[in-house]
Amino acid sequence: MAERRSWFFFFIACAVSVWGAKAEFKFTVPVGKLFTYELMRETFQNDFEPLSKLYAGNLYDDPIIFKCKLQNFPDLPEWIRFTQRHPYDNGFLYGTPMVPGKSIIEVWAVNKRSYQTTRQIVVIKAVEEKILPYQAEFFIKLREIEKVLPPAVQSEIKADLQRLWNTEALEIVNITNALDRGGRVPLPLAGHFEGVYVKVGSEQYFSNCLLKVLNPEHSRQCSGADKGAKVKVPGECNFCSIPSNCITWCKTQLFDLSNPTPAPPAPTMGSGIMEEGGDFDPPESPPSRDYFPDYIVTVIVPLIIAIVLCVLLAYVMFCRREGVFQLYHHHTIHDNADELRNMAADRSGPPPLSTLPMFNYRTGERAPPLPSDSIPLILAQQEPHSDPEPR
Ligand SMILES: *[C@@H]1O[C@H](CO)[C@@H](O)[C@H](O)[C@H]1NC(C)=O
Repeated sequence: MAERRSWFFFFIACAVSVWGAKAEFKFTVPVGKLFTYELMRETFQNDFEPLSKLYAGNLYDDPIIFKCKLQNFPDLPEWIRFTQRHPYDNGFLYGTPMVPGKSIIEVWAVNKRSYQTTRQIVVIKAVEEKILPYQAEFFIKLREIEKVLPPAVQSEIKADLQRLWNTEALEIVNITNALDRGGRVPLPLAGHFEGVYVKVGSEQYFSNCLLKVLNPEHSRQCSGADKGAKVKVPGECNFCSIPSNCITWCKTQLFDLSNPTPAPPAPTMGSGIMEEGGDFDPPESPPSRDYFPDYIVTVIVPLIIAIVLCVLLAYVMFCRREGVFQLYHHHTIHDNADELRNMAADRSGPPPLSTLPMFNYRTGERAPPLPSDSIPLILAQQEPHSDPEPR
């Protein structure tokens, strides 16, 4: 029995390792070039229920979200970014490595319908390569990062920029969401987009079109927040074939990295021992302060005012006519309330004094009934009934 169970576990282990090996993807990226990897929802969907399509014929399209992190670490490496607009959209891992090295990325996919999870391993090996000496950054206003990262769109954009640069030897160096660079979240209206920065690099020097950016005239035209948006790409340099890929001319920047700035000189090391500089001179203790006036103002004065107010109130309440009357009024309300309470305990008691037609407050003595009391008030109404008219 135990042997059979261990065999069972052995098979499970084999299956898992085969499965795990299958869900591993390896990439080699040159340093300084953009790396993009699209996390396909379809692939992960097949991992969740691989047999349901074959046997039960169920085709699911579940919302899937991704969690990506460096293996054994809580977060992604600094140079990789992840984006997924919506659980029904594919996710993207992208970024530009700047130092050679290997990163093992764990991608967890969570099925938001069944809450199953599945894992993929992405191994990215960054290899040393020369940094492209001439680089330029363009701003594409009518785009969002997820719409630009698919390889087809990247090559469309690259084709336009190749014509602008007048060279085939062009590589995309970086793609950045404008929101990551201080851009604003657009209004949720048609025709408003976040915007994307695309940085490209080449071995070849900038074309004449690109050099126009360095003209003093360019900066004059583009100065002023509002004017900049309206400046068009000079006619002979406008190569944008798809309107949404057109660049904002005023936000174009050139970077010449061909003669790198020398690194600042290293700081000179000292002996590690502080120089001698006299004795420590502690500051004098501050002069003592008299707190008595403060005490008078904050404690004694309010106390005196409170006592005066108390005396005044007592005088008004006990020595003046209105006060005495108020106190008396208060007492009668109190007594009536007490009486009602007692009555509630005993239903067969006498009716409350305050409901009697007339009585003395203090003694409870009733006034003699008025002569009018004896006159039946409803007599006049009863008369027609007692003596009906003959018909
Ligand atoms: C790419 O863009 C990101 C975001 O702006 C920035 O942090 C990163 O340094 C850039 N990388 C390169 C190689 O320019």
